[in-house]
Amino acid sequence: MRIAVFGTGAVGCALAGGLLNRGHSVAVGTRAPEDPAVVARLADLQGVSVMAHRDAAKTAELAIFAIPFDGLSAVAGEITATLPPGTTLIDACDPERPGPDGRPVLVIGHDDSGAEMLQRLVPGAHVVKAFNILAAADMVSPGFPEGPPTMLVCGDHEPAVQQAIALCRELGWTDILNLGGLHLARLTEALSVLWVYSALAAGSWDVAFRLIRRADN
Ligand SMILES: NC(=O)c1ccc[n+]([C@@H]2O[C@H](COP(=O)([O-])OP(=O)(O)OC[C@H]3O[C@@H](n4cnc5c(N)ncnc54)[C@H](OP(=O)(O)O)[C@@H]3O)[C@@H](O)[C@H]2O)c1
Repeated sequence: MRIAVFGTGAVGCALAGGLLNRGHSVAVGTRAPEDPAVVARLADLQGVSVMAHRDAAKTAELAIFAIPFDGLSAVAGEITATLPPGTTLIDACDPERPGPDGRPVLVIGHDDSGAEMLQRLVPGAHVVKAFNILAAADMVSPGFPEGPPTMLVCGDHEPAVQQAIALCRELGWTDILNLGGLHLARLTEALSVLWVYSALAAGSWDVAFRLIRRADN
């Protein structure tokens, strides 16, 4: 499948790498395709195409958004013109900024979410929230000795949600919960901040949430 990944940071590189390893054709979107720093960041991703966001969006059959909150509007504004209508757009982001102590604070919540903002800015896409609740390093093939962590997914367009779930499975996720509508991203985005505080308290970034069940179901 032709997949566009917007963002060249830890999340974009981790997901692009996992997708390349599974045989997908991956175009990574950036503000500066010629920038040596960007080229260096992507050097390990053999076979990836690096291009401006709007060009990466053009031929995408599926897309992933991995941009900090301060870049959400600008990058969404670039891709909305070229992303084919009806494309599933997986939003792996969290609407956070560093607070006074350097720890993240949610920028929006309660009655809106970054995912809903993204949906408004790219109305032709079907936005699905996923991947935002754990470290980039654990987004692909999440191997934890105590068992698989839980991926929380939500979105308003069921076929798009199912496509995102299939992609999660392909990337090694076995426990995936479809929470419901995209407004539930308000909760999973808040959970991402709790994840940071949990990691700090646990003394490791290599932690993830898992829903435990009394019986197999
Ligand atoms: N890092 C994690 O472990 C993690 C985990 C869960 C969720 N998240 C969320 O996932 C998203 C991506 O995280 P990340 O750590 O990969 O982000 P990042 O490294 O801070 O940024 C990703 C890329 O976004 C572009 N960018 C940065 N600032 C921008 C701006 N103001 N305008 C437009 N583009 C900008 C840059 O690419 P170019 O310079 O190439 O344009 C950068 O490489 C964030 O929303 C984050 O909160 C991160």
